[in-house]
Amino acid sequence: MSREVTVDLGERSYPICIGPGLLKDLGVKCADRSAGSVCLIVSDSNVDPLYGDACEASLSEAGVTAKRVVIPAGESSKSESEIFKLYDEALEVPLDRKSFIVALGGGVVGDIAGYAAASYLRGITLVQVPTSLLAMVDSAVGGKTGINLPQGKNLIGAFHQPALVLVDSDTLATLPRREFVAGMAEVVKYGIIWDAELFALLEANMGKLIEERGGLLDQVIARCCEIKAEVVRQDEREGGLRAILNFGHTLGHALEQVSGYGKFLHGEAIAVGMVFAAELSVRHHGLDAGDAARIRRLLQSCDLPVSVSDYSWEELRSAMTLDKKTVGKALRFVLAGAIGKVDTGCEISDGVLKEVWNVCCQ
Ligand code: NAD
Ligand code: GLY
Repeated sequence: MSREVTVDLGERSYPICIGPGLLKDLGVKCADRSAGSVCLIVSDSNVDPLYGDACEASLSEAGVTAKRVVIPAGESSKSESEIFKLYDEALEVPLDRKSFIVALGGGVVGDIAGYAAASYLRGITLVQVPTSLLAMVDSAVGGKTGINLPQGKNLIGAFHQPALVLVDSDTLATLPRREFVAGMAEVVKYGIIWDAELFALLEANMGKLIEERGGLLDQVIARCCEIKAEVVRQDEREGGLRAILNFGHTLGHALEQVSGYGKFLHGEAIAVGMVFAAELSVRHHGLDAGDAARIRRLLQSCDLPVSVSDYSWEELRSAMTLDKKTVGKALRFVLAGAIGKVDTGCEISDGVLKEVWNVCCQ
């Protein structure tokens, strides 16, 4: 059974199709969206050998001429050198304004291929085919694309909505467990920021979701996509509401930075960040202490870290100053009043931040 969620952005609306075995329908669905007859399939060195042939075959059956480009797997490929290689490949085909780019892979592929589509010839059509759980529930939806600079992550980028997001949930069978669980941190986040029922469903079924990765998982992915679609519909360019998607990310990003990117997967770092944000919420936003404990337990049940001991508060605090939500010197947090309900822009004093850090996260 497949499901469809619409990201409602007027003329730029697009479907997110979710279900097992959908990769074989990619060509037909691209034709339905009038994506074009020539494309570049961008994938990485782990995903292309697994799903590149199926992707190309489906497009070819629908009359699309496709050229495959493979970038090295890993965050370091979101780079200046790799994006220029993609432009070279696009020019060699050549892709014109009626051509399109397919991003087949996790968030790294989605972000760089998305940025290539956003910038090549001032923007061509993009189709996202996410294959990691994180990409399915978060990065492939909503139009954020970009690359890193040596000075920091995602410093170059553009909003460029895809014409189609195709989630073949069968591809999750090959995703390494650690990557899968890290994606689950973002799933838990949707429960905290928007949907108490989803949170309870995760509490009741987490073991099954991680071990079986079948049926119920599709329903969960679809629910996360519905939530993200609604947030993006209301606030496409992060003028306000969209910042709720950053629950747990202020500390999470700082942890990724001080640990040198690579020690923690993104989802692992934000798991620690979400526990911190939950404890701040107990002290400053009326969150019930029992609900903060539920958040910690649910993350622990996925084997996600909920505390760290190797970093000083001072280095983390200094890394947090670089957070995009910081206005002047004050740190702003997304805090929860209850599971399923959060607010943005909550300013917390340094003294309180340090106190909560010392109590809950070390
Ligand atoms: P990733 O793309 O590096 O994928 C994780 C690993 O899993 C890689 O080694 C990849 O090759 C492998 N992989 C992916 N799918 C697989 C599959 N089905 N089978 C086997 N291996 C598979 O990382 P990610 O966690 O998917 O994404 C992280 C990136 O996403 C970061 O660069 C982050 O900045 C970005 N991101 C972007 C947004 C956005 O809104 N654009 C949101 C969140 C994160
Ligand atoms: N991942 C955060 C956003 O899309 O806004």
